[in-house]
This record gives sequence, C-alpha cells and structure tokens, in this order.
Amino acid sequence: MLNVHIVSLFPEFYTSPLATALLAKAQESGVLAFSHHDPRTFTTDKHHTADDRPYGGGPGMVMLAEPVANCLRSLPKAGRMLVMAPSGRPFTQALARELAQEEHITIICGRYEGLDARLFEAFPLEPISVGDVVLNGGETASLAVIEAVARLVPGFMGKEESGDDESFSHGLLEYPHYTRPEVWENHAVPDVLRGGDHARIQQWRREASLAATLHNRPDLFTEAPLTANDAAWLNAQPRRRIGKNLFACLVHYPVLLGEKNSGASSLTNLDIHDIARSSRSYGLGAFYISTPLADQTRVLEAVLRHWTQGKAAKSHADRAEALRIVRHVNILEEAVQDIYARTGQKPRIIATSAQWPRDANAPALTPSQVRAWLHEAPVLLCFGTGHGLAPEVLAQCDAALRPLRFSGDYNHLSVRAAAAITLDRILGDML
Ligand SMILES: C[S@@+](CC[C@H](N)C(=O)[O-])C[C@H]1O[C@@H](n2cnc3c(N)ncnc32)[C@H](O)[C@@H]1O
Repeated sequence: MLNVHIVSLFPEFYTSPLATALLAKAQESGVLAFSHHDPRTFTTDKHHTADDRPYGGGPGMVMLAEPVANCLRSLPKAGRMLVMAPSGRPFTQALARELAQEEHITIICGRYEGLDARLFEAFPLEPISVGDVVLNGGETASLAVIEAVARLVPGFMGKEESGDDESFSHGLLEYPHYTRPEVWENHAVPDVLRGGDHARIQQWRREASLAATLHNRPDLFTEAPLTANDAAWLNAQPRRRIGKNLFACLVHYPVLLGEKNSGASSLTNLDIHDIARSSRSYGLGAFYISTPLADQTRVLEAVLRHWTQGKAAKSHADRAEALRIVRHVNILEEAVQDIYARTGQKPRIIATSAQWPRDANAPALTPSQVRAWLHEAPVLLCFGTGHGLAPEVLAQCDAALRPLRFSGDYNHLSVRAAAAITLDRILGDML
C-alpha cells in the first residue's frame, strides 16, 4: 500500500481528481491512501499568512519556511519528500517505478514563486519537474506524479503487467492502438493487426514504436536499448539527414603560430585522413582544407590523388569514399562560396576553440543550438591548426562554439579528436 501525503495550500483542488475512476477504486480497495496537509493551518499569526515578499526584490511572493516546516514535522511518517518545482529534476517513468516501491511519499506543492529555499537545507527535499513549462502551482504537477506512480503500485491496474508496458518502459515511445470498427471514415486498421499472426504483430508493433520515436522523440535513441534489427529498420527509413547541412573547414591560414604571431601552418596527413573519415561517418556536406600555399596544396592533392584514384582507391574503398568529400580551398571565403553554390544559402560560420570567446559576458554557442540551425540553413564549422584560429578568421565567424571539456583543468585535444567529438555532440547517431 502506498500512502501519499499531500502538502498544499489548496487541498480542495484534489476533491474531484482523487475521487474519480481508478484512483477512487484504489483507495476503496486499500492500494492507495491520501492525506492532506495545509501549511496555512500551521501558521501562528491571526491572518494565517503563508507567503511574503522575496529578499532581493522582484515580482511575486515566496512561501514562508515556518508553516511548511511545521507541516512536514507534523507527519508521523513522511517517506521521500518531493517538491514540485519547474527547476527540479525531470519526472520520468524510471522515477515513477522507484516511488511505486515506497510505503510513504510526501508531495509538497509550491505556489507563487515557490518555497523559501532554506527548506531545502533543513529537509531532504527532492525537487521534481513535470516538464519544461511553468504552472500556477504544484497541485497540477502533483496529480501527474500521483497517477504515474499509482498505476505502478501492485493491485492498481486490472492486469498486473499492463502498468509498465507503455511508452518509455522499453526506452521507446509506444506503438499506436486501434479498436472497432475495422474501417472508420475510410481509415482502415492495419491488416497485420487483424491477421492473428502473433510474431508479425510483435514485429509491426516494434517497428511502429521505432517510427513514433524517430518522428517525435529521436533524442530517446541515445539511451534506448536497440538491436541490430532495429538499427537496420531505422536505417532503411527515408529521413532528412541534417548532417548534410554541416560543413567543416580545417584552417591552415591564418592561424596563431606563437604568442602573438599568425601565419600558415603545414598540413598533416593524419588530420586529412581522420577528419575526412569523421566527416564522412557523420554525413557532412563537405570537408574543406584551407591553405593558400602552393607547396602545401600540392601535398594535399598528392594525398587525395593517391587514395581516391588508382590502386589504393580499389584496395581501400572506404578510405577513398571518405577522402572524396575533401575539397581544397585557398581561404575560408572560398568554402563559403562553394557552400552557397551547392545549397543556395550562405552558411553560418562557427569558430571552435579550446578557449572561451574573448567577450566573457557573451554566451558561447551550444552543440544543440548548432543542431537547431542545421534544420534551416548550412553551417560551416572552422577548426584551427597551429595554436588556433587567428583573430582575422574569428572576425569572419558568426559565433563561437563553447570549448570542449571546459569544466576540466586540461582540454588540449588534437584538432582531429576535437573535430570528431564536436561532430558527435552536434549530430549524434541519428541525424
Ligand atoms: C508559478 S510556479 C513558480 C515558478 C518559479 N518561480 C520558477 O520560475 O521556477 C508556482 C509553483 O508551481 C509548481 N510548478 C510550476 N511549474 C511546474 C513544473 N513544470 N513542474 C513541477 N511543478 C511546477 C511549483 O510547485 C512552483 O513552486
């Protein structure tokens, strides 16, 4: 049995929801029990004040610590104490599963701007958010938590297993459901579901789950346990690969060469090969290598010729395929022109660096912002050689990506490692 203790300034909010359908039945059958605790009844002044103005100014009111604290201390058994808060950790099916194992949980609902923060120092409160939205109060959020947890408490649902065979249970979204009639307004139920072949139905449902996840929540694939069959099915689906809109340029001029000097660096064979292979693996539109020096250009052409034509191209077909997306340009602007010619759009130019941009107050770009841009327009990522991109190149860029491993005490990656990590953070496995 799960006992849910609700701490709210508005207990009347729960009258109808908790007296409806399965939640009502579960209380009758002793699977669930609810108790209500109103902090206002723990106030000591004559107006029963439960809130006050925030220190530091600003709009809104803050819930007083004392009445909430006294309310919590009045509970004989509180169990885990959850505070509904948009700033909390996301509520998930996994957390619902954990909470369903408990005998007691306490749910504290904020109102106004929320609770006095010192309550988090005085009690082991767990702030939980039901989504990246702001509601008027924690009561609506608490109902979402209550329903999700309740249906996982043994005895709540008719069939024991049905509570946990839904979206998120297997890391994917659920497949669609159909019921009678077979044809409704010219829309038919898929044949396979009427055929009675259980194995085929299972396969159809798995694929429909993959399709729903691909369409609505591709981010879930990062964690979803997938099989080789799932991957083969996903790869066969026609879909927009936004990686095509991403272009990389390895800049050899102008780059920083020492403290303040800038000039041209030499090409390295490893960078050409490795960044080309990463670029091909992540489906980039092209990988440009910029150098205006004639001898360096000859080196590059010789390397590309060797691996993309003749014997080596045959014996190392994968390598040839990667190196075929390499383009030589004299300067960055030529890459910009080439992208314009290919896509009809000017790319946004993004600088990469191991250091934060000079303007310490300007927020640097995140990989997910770049990902969002790729849906609309091409992006050219600039990687520096030597000691990094020279100020002239930075001046051409529209923005700078935040440094990789900025929170560590050492982040001097090779440019080819940095390029691979950056591409993975922007595109991951699915894009
Ligand atoms: C107007 S909101 C306060 C918003 C708060 N000032 C902020 O920006 O994070 C009032 C109360 O509603 C509840 N609430 C609002 N949105 C929520 C969400 N997405 N998840 C959980 N609780 C939420 C919280 O209990 C919160 O204290």
